[in-house]
Amino acid sequence: MTVNLMPSAERLAERSGPHLQRFAVTYEYPVHFTEHALAPDNPILADCISGKEPSRRHRVVFVIDDGVAAAAPAILDDIRAYAARHAATIELAATPRLISGGERAKNDPSLVETLQRELVELRIDRHAFIIAIGGGAVLDLAGFVAATLHRGIRHIRMPTTVLAQDDSGVGVKNGVNAFGIKNLVGCFAPPFAVINDFAFLERLDPRDRIAGMAEAVKVALIRDAGFFAWIEAEADALAVGAAKPLRHLIRRCAELHMRQIAHGGDPFEMGSARPLDYGHWAAHKLEALTEHALRHGEAVSIGMALDARYAVAIGLLEAGAETRICRLLQRLGLPIFDAALSRRLPDGELAVLAGLREFREHLGGELTITLLERIGRGVEVHSMDEAAIAEAIRWLGSGKVAG
Ligand SMILES: NC(=O)c1ccc[n+]([C@@H]2O[C@H](COP(=O)([O-])OP(=O)(O)OC[C@H]3O[C@@H](n4cnc5c(N)ncnc54)[C@H](O)[C@@H]3O)[C@@H](O)[C@H]2O)c1
Ligand SMILES: [Zn+2]
Repeated sequence: MTVNLMPSAERLAERSGPHLQRFAVTYEYPVHFTEHALAPDNPILADCISGKEPSRRHRVVFVIDDGVAAAAPAILDDIRAYAARHAATIELAATPRLISGGERAKNDPSLVETLQRELVELRIDRHAFIIAIGGGAVLDLAGFVAATLHRGIRHIRMPTTVLAQDDSGVGVKNGVNAFGIKNLVGCFAPPFAVINDFAFLERLDPRDRIAGMAEAVKVALIRDAGFFAWIEAEADALAVGAAKPLRHLIRRCAELHMRQIAHGGDPFEMGSARPLDYGHWAAHKLEALTEHALRHGEAVSIGMALDARYAVAIGLLEAGAETRICRLLQRLGLPIFDAALSRRLPDGELAVLAGLREFREHLGGELTITLLERIGRGVEVHSMDEAAIAEAIRWLGSGKVAG
């Protein structure tokens, strides 16, 4: 008889259960703030490209929002001149590719494939760069194309709107709309670098400039009372687009968003909470109900006003804070009400309430909404009272906060 004292490999495997594969990837990307990034003597872009492989020449494809190109037609010459000046680093693989700006960029299902095919025909590889210059919509599209081709080409974002510079462009999300649903198809893929060039904002439509400031009010409300007070102090200058306070607002807002991604514990949003999405459950629904007549930031402004009044109604937020918040939004030129907010479905239900359900469905799991317990501090709740929402809507619609 033989006694085998060594356990067989199978028995060992049974005992120890499945193998656990585990590794960590550290993501790191610079977010620059500059002016005239494409002026030949501005080294930031060339340095970003050469960064990890200084002795190489990199093939580069620029993807440009046509709204930016229309507002600043010299941009195409600027790119050519910049590439010529930094020829040791940059090889233009093609003439810059113009993309229709705004939501159209994300709504055309054939555009992703068209761009991917063009990049394949240009023999773009994983050492090449896609550089996207534009509003949040063009950046979302270009980032998605870059992240999926060859399982990920390096992409550099140059956001050109206030919203893209202070919020979306500094983050890690990319994607397009599909089957009538916003951002349905996309991915989390950090950019290689972000370059916020303030000069682009000079040509931005004032309505877009103002809408982008709503995200700064949002992040101030849930994270930074001092920043909120600063926005109040500078509101009149911000409303007319004064460069100095606008730049500070963008920087601070971008920093607070970046901090959340790096230190909030959930950069790729695996959980059911979206801590920075204060005011957004109603905002997303309002954007859909108005068929995007409201800009994202405008809808967020209304959503924040609604949730502020709601928080007072349920005794979470001190009475009077909602008026202070609404007044600030109005002074910046942002709306706090839209008729779509009081629209009712045939069964009498407020149409905006579907936004709560959709918010939960998008994230999965338990409903998680960020509300305010005071200015500068957000808290999560897991249910909302429909009667109190209806009261808050009536209050906003009554115009009592005017002035
Ligand atoms: N990825 C994210 O984390 C994230 C977060 C929030 C929002 N978003 C997305 O961002 C998009 C909205 O982005 P947006 O507010 O930047 O606007 P936008 O991209 O829709 O652009 C608005 C308009 O401004 C034009 N434009 C852009 N820059 C300009 C400039 N400097 N001068 C003149 N015109 C200019 C565009 O051509 C367009 O017509 C939405 O699709 C939204 O889903 C993404
Ligand atoms: Zn937002």
